[in-house]
Amino acid sequence: MSERIVDVDLASHAYEVRIGRGALGGVGSAARLLLGQRSSRVLIVRDTGVPERFEQMLVEDLSREGFETHVCEITPSESIKNMETIRDLLVEAVRFGMTRVDAVLALGGGVVGDIAGYVAASYQRGVPVIQCPSTLLSMVDASVGGKTGVNLSVNGDLYKNMVGAFHQPTLVVADTELLDSLDDRQRRCGLAECVKHAMICKSVPDEDEVHCALLDWMVTHLDSIASFDPDTIDQLVARNVGLKASVVMGDERESPDAKSGGRMLLNFGHTFGHAIETLEGISASGDPADAPLHHGEAVALGMCCACSASVALGMCAESVADRLREMLGAVGLPTRVAGLPGTGSLIERMGHDKKAAGGSLRVILPTGSGKCSIVSDADESGLLVGIDSIRAFAP
Ligand SMILES: NC(=O)c1ccc[n+]([C@@H]2O[C@H](COP(=O)([O-])OP(=O)(O)OC[C@H]3O[C@@H](n4cnc5c(N)ncnc54)[C@H](O)[C@@H]3O)[C@@H](O)[C@H]2O)c1
Repeated sequence: MSERIVDVDLASHAYEVRIGRGALGGVGSAARLLLGQRSSRVLIVRDTGVPERFEQMLVEDLSREGFETHVCEITPSESIKNMETIRDLLVEAVRFGMTRVDAVLALGGGVVGDIAGYVAASYQRGVPVIQCPSTLLSMVDASVGGKTGVNLSVNGDLYKNMVGAFHQPTLVVADTELLDSLDDRQRRCGLAECVKHAMICKSVPDEDEVHCALLDWMVTHLDSIASFDPDTIDQLVARNVGLKASVVMGDERESPDAKSGGRMLLNFGHTFGHAIETLEGISASGDPADAPLHHGEAVALGMCCACSASVALGMCAESVADRLREMLGAVGLPTRVAGLPGTGSLIERMGHDKKAAGGSLRVILPTGSGKCSIVSDADESGLLVGIDSIRAFAP
């Protein structure tokens, strides 16, 4: 097993992200080292999509190190990512007898990671969380950086990630063997976040050569990425975690004043994406049975909107938008979608993010190859062009 390690060094807290096939095997001993001898319980929140043998392996490994475990299962969806689920898990934690030196462990995709992370952030005002991401999206994005939380439903509208806390993990273990059972659609969704990282790679203030080269590296390796070659995927995960860690180290809490945009840059494609993500009956394939869009599909479409908006506003060359569409197309992600509602109503839905940001709608727009900028209150005419650029009309 060759393991890659990315260090996340934050002023408040430092932790490792361990990446590689079989990495899960080291969780027990690492947990004992990090949690200390007084710790005796680990509450495992397991995604039912993860093959059971990985749960058994973890339970045995932790028990060899003297931990008692209790497993709670979650079948993830955006509709169960809510406060009721948090409450149920907190009740389980009390029944299990967890104390402040004990830990929560998330074994699952981004939904389980966000839920388990928020449970850990809330229980007795904060207990350690170990993130063991099991989807590509959660490996390259959700498990690193400490954002945790759930959605809120208000008047029938789902407000994504409206409630939550920053709670950095004590350890992240990305065992890429877990990706073997992931279906193609979920793999592609993870690749959307990798493309997002590539599109911002030269705006990350650290100017690290490896990070700056992410876009070129992905373009060069597009075939083996698209065919999910295991060694390429390990490298892809490590490179993307490295970039995400660097952004987080420069701006732990998404400050509006962060140098070069900081964490907010990671929202590239998301403001547009959030507006279409939860629309009923809309799917990337055009088949209503595949609706709604998955997060990664919405982000892919959102990035296309942002690129076209940027071109319309004269902020970047058409070639940047073309390159994005080529990359998305090569890995099977959508660049257009049928059945979208009126553009005005989508702009209004984007306003959900505006309210969250204190009244000004901030969008991340490309300014060149691998470069993006944050634009406050962008000219609406550009946003309209952006949204209309992803419409597919039935023949
Ligand atoms: N906290 C953050 O910084 C952050 C960043 C990006 C996204 N997110 C959140 O992440 C969520 C999306 O995460 P996701 O894309 O991982 O989706 P997900 O958690 O819904 O998982 C997708 C599907 O894959 C299944 N699955 C998980 N692991 C598997 C495995 N190893 N084999 C087979 N199937 C498996 C799950 O059961 C589920 O059906 C969203 O809620 C989003 O808001 C959070």
